[in-house]
Amino acid sequence: MDDTSKKLVEIQHLKQYFPVAGSSILSRTYVKAVDDVSFFIRKGQTLGLVGESGCGKTTTGRTLLQLYEPTAGRIIYDGNVIFDSGNVPLYDENGKPVLDGEGKPVLGKKTKVNMLPYRRKMQIVFQDPYASLDPRMTVGDIVGEAIDIHKLASSKAERRDKIITMLERVGLNSEHANRYPHEFSGGQRQRVGIARALAVDPEFIVCDEPISALDVSIQAQVINMLEDLQREFGLTYLFIAHDLSVVKHISTKIGVMYLGKLVEMADSYELTFHSCHPYTRSLISAIPIADPITSRNSKRIVLQGDIPSPVNPPSGCHFRTRCPYADKLCAEAEPKWGKVGEGHWCACHHLDRVD
Ligand SMILES: Nc1ncnc2c1ncn2[C@@H]1O[C@H](COP(=O)(O)OP(=O)(O)O)[C@@H](O)[C@H]1O
Ligand SMILES: [Mg+2]
Repeated sequence: MDDTSKKLVEIQHLKQYFPVAGSSILSRTYVKAVDDVSFFIRKGQTLGLVGESGCGKTTTGRTLLQLYEPTAGRIIYDGNVIFDSGNVPLYDENGKPVLDGEGKPVLGKKTKVNMLPYRRKMQIVFQDPYASLDPRMTVGDIVGEAIDIHKLASSKAERRDKIITMLERVGLNSEHANRYPHEFSGGQRQRVGIARALAVDPEFIVCDEPISALDVSIQAQVINMLEDLQREFGLTYLFIAHDLSVVKHISTKIGVMYLGKLVEMADSYELTFHSCHPYTRSLISAIPIADPITSRNSKRIVLQGDIPSPVNPPSGCHFRTRCPYADKLCAEAEPKWGKVGEGHWCACHHLDRVD
């Protein structure tokens, strides 16, 4: 993998808090759906984002695209700051905070740009192909709408050519253009969703659990197609899944989220075989192993209890209420995000750090 390619997408200390409906104005409570998440994705690479349902994966993807205005943080796209809440430290190219003359961290400037030019470059494929396609529009118009918004065709003929090329790229054909979403299978609808994202010639796509709603038999086809499209168009992906087995083959790096926070991040191989966070280990132990001998020897780690509410997360380490190793320190202090190996980061009190 080319580790020197440029960072295309970066988020720093991103937060997305939703006010809880019904909480009074004076004592507003918030769902901390995304709580201080930072990562970057290099051009042409894939970051897999995994974690149980409700941990904030979708919100991370949507906030990064600014479909919601972030509560705080910084978003950088292709070297340009496209959002900055103005209270986040600036970092140099090595990831170290920039300091002023007195040694205090310099904060970024409050920034909000017009997103229209970025909307074309940054696309999303939704989890549910049934809900994300307008049932009253033909498939041709669904794909064509994005082309119209961004004025990417100068004539009707060019528009139609573009639509058909896109449908063919995702394994559909020109006859499908005049049909409505309900006439398609789940897998075909997801192909339409992918064609819609691709029609505007994007650089970056958030794939939000694109295969979760599909039959197992067609999941691999859609994954293979997304990989082929990535190679063909040099696309960069944020690939969200609740299941590690889905992302481990296609991701360059994998980030693991728990209750609004990243708990571990490493290269895909490193994370799969040398994970150190107890939560990541439990996710890995849940992947079925095809080989019966290995399978008999490997122990499944089953976590106790449910994910606590993101409105009122546990003190200290969010994971401590379900962690087999939790002690007093875990309840008192939030573990810091620290380096545990080359390109391998983790937030846990019980790890030896490299630096
Ligand atoms: N628009 C919203 N308003 C209020 N709460 C939300 C909204 N979207 C998501 N949440 C809450 O934020 C948390 C994270 O949700 P989500 O990002 O959808 O998780 P995931 O995609 O990992 O399943 C959940 O507790 C969810 O209920
Ligand atoms: Mg989701």
